[in-house]
Amino acid sequence: MPEIEGFSPRDWDSHPLNLSPDYKSAPLRAPKKPLVIFPQSLTELTGPVFGQDAVGHLDHDLTKNAARSGEPYGERIIVAGTVKDEDGNPIPNILLEVWQPNAAGRYDHADDQHDAPLDPNFLGAGRCVTDQVGHYRFITIKPGAYPWGNHFNAWRPSHIHFSLFGPSILTRLVTQMYFPGDPLLELDPIFNGVPTAARNLLVAKLSIDISEPEWALGYDFNIQLRGRTATPMET
Ligand SMILES: [Fe+2]
Repeated sequence: MPEIEGFSPRDWDSHPLNLSPDYKSAPLRAPKKPLVIFPQSLTELTGPVFGQDAVGHLDHDLTKNAARSGEPYGERIIVAGTVKDEDGNPIPNILLEVWQPNAAGRYDHADDQHDAPLDPNFLGAGRCVTDQVGHYRFITIKPGAYPWGNHFNAWRPSHIHFSLFGPSILTRLVTQMYFPGDPLLELDPIFNGVPTAARNLLVAKLSIDISEPEWALGYDFNIQLRGRTATPMET
């Protein structure tokens, strides 16, 4: 991709290829011909604008935003971090959306028929907007591993899906966050679709500073939009 004024081209040393053949769905939807590069215009350099007013006060707390009769089951965790641009400057007013299965490894979605219980107090979706120093924070339940049929006995490592609306369409990011020390990571075709040197950018770090005593462990997951150290994009 040609360089666009103000943005570095996508770094293919960090990002998965469009076609990662070990991921069974990829050959069905990856482009089979070279991409057609359109000239960039104001459309690509601007994006939707979100502010703190756009989200409700419980939207960031997945342990409460869908609760009907009490707390959801599982290990309560805090996931927090900073969103920065490729020059390391924090970016305010970035909408982050997350979705994940419950502690048993099941999504609250009609397409998920995994033989594991739903949790009446957990939907598994939330959102928040970065503050003036680019910081975000979610409270949630540690997601369980789940089988996914990619190959015989295939299990996804615990992960949280992230979507970010950056300040332009070029900084739109959809990615996944993983947990440190998960033995399923080395078996996962999606995680392993990311070039080796960049995989750790997708693994959160346990943080005692983010943890709250007697209440919840904290994980630090920083996200960088575009550039050599950008968080790898899900393709
Ligand atoms: Fe998932």
